[in-house]
Amino acid sequence: MISTQILGTGRAVPEKVLSNLDLEKLVDTNDQWITERTGIKERRVLDPALATSDLATEAARAACESAGVSPRDVDCIIVGTVTPDMPMPATAVFVQQKLGAGPGAAFDLSAACAGFLYGLAVGDSLVKAGQFKRVLVIGVEILTRILDWKDRNTCVLFGDGAGAVLLGPGDAPRGVMSTHLYADGAGWEHLYIPGGGTRHPTTHDTIEKNLHVVKMNGRAVFSQAVRNISAACQAALDANGMVAADVDLVVAHQANLRIVEGVAQRVGLPMEKFWLNIAQYGNTSSASVPIALDEAVRAGKIQPGMRLLFCALGAGFSWGSAMVRW
Ligand code: ACO
Repeated sequence: MISTQILGTGRAVPEKVLSNLDLEKLVDTNDQWITERTGIKERRVLDPALATSDLATEAARAACESAGVSPRDVDCIIVGTVTPDMPMPATAVFVQQKLGAGPGAAFDLSAACAGFLYGLAVGDSLVKAGQFKRVLVIGVEILTRILDWKDRNTCVLFGDGAGAVLLGPGDAPRGVMSTHLYADGAGWEHLYIPGGGTRHPTTHDTIEKNLHVVKMNGRAVFSQAVRNISAACQAALDANGMVAADVDLVVAHQANLRIVEGVAQRVGLPMEKFWLNIAQYGNTSSASVPIALDEAVRAGKIQPGMRLLFCALGAGFSWGSAMVRW
């Protein structure tokens, strides 16, 4: 049985920092509120001259380099994003071109903040099926381009970033041990962008009505996130015959520090086991898990044999978990 290994990791975040103090000048908010309610101190904003695929390619290149694999050998690229370069074609084909990746498949996947986990599960299946040998899974989001900068309920939460892993076949017990994916469309209206699709194609009217930006019911998202991420983590533990104490590091989606604390409490995982970077980047949606993973790897925090638990929830609602033996 083929096991899917994470051969390399990479990340890319824009240089420009937007702090809570900067936000105080834009909307009626303050550093204390944002810090206490979310744990966020600052976030990154991409240069207007660049697009999603630029940041994604940087993260992908870093993942290939850390794996010691030439981009020419990459035969599949999966990009999890809800902020593509263009509605068509897929951002993944721009990444393929910019990276100089080999011929093969390249496609986008839309699962919002769970986009990386969905991509990891698909990539894992493709590797295990023997269909592709070098699969890049990228989570990338330029959310600052689709926010309402007058809405303090949302604009303080998000930031831009990209993270990537390179997957390939290897030998068990190392590799992806399990993936669990879920969705519940009944929750769509708690987090969405109404305009720009076929429901409300872009017109002067949709722009005037501000339909092209993120709408969110924060409290509903919060409670669903804690409940569903916790359940997905438990499913990962159960599927592998593990208990919380067997997990060495949790790489959780960084949406709100209090969501992470809620999950930690429910699943019985101490906060010291979570890799946290929400203070520096805010919520980077599908990029947050692979960015955090790459930071932990490069900080020397992850050693061979360690068991890592990934988890996330986003719009949809879509959510999931994965257990990986490093
Ligand atoms: N600055 C100051 N005050 C604010 C701000 C702000 N930026 N935003 C909201 N407030 C006010 C509200 O207007 C409200 O005032 P009121 O009581 O006078 O009406 C008050 O603060 C409390 O608002 P709540 O919504 O109850 O605050 P809450 O403690 O729920 O925190 C938050 C709000 C941070 C949005 C929280 O609900 C949350 O994080 N939810 C999850 C959202 C999320 O993570 N979305 C990302 C996508 S999905 C995902 O990644 C999991």
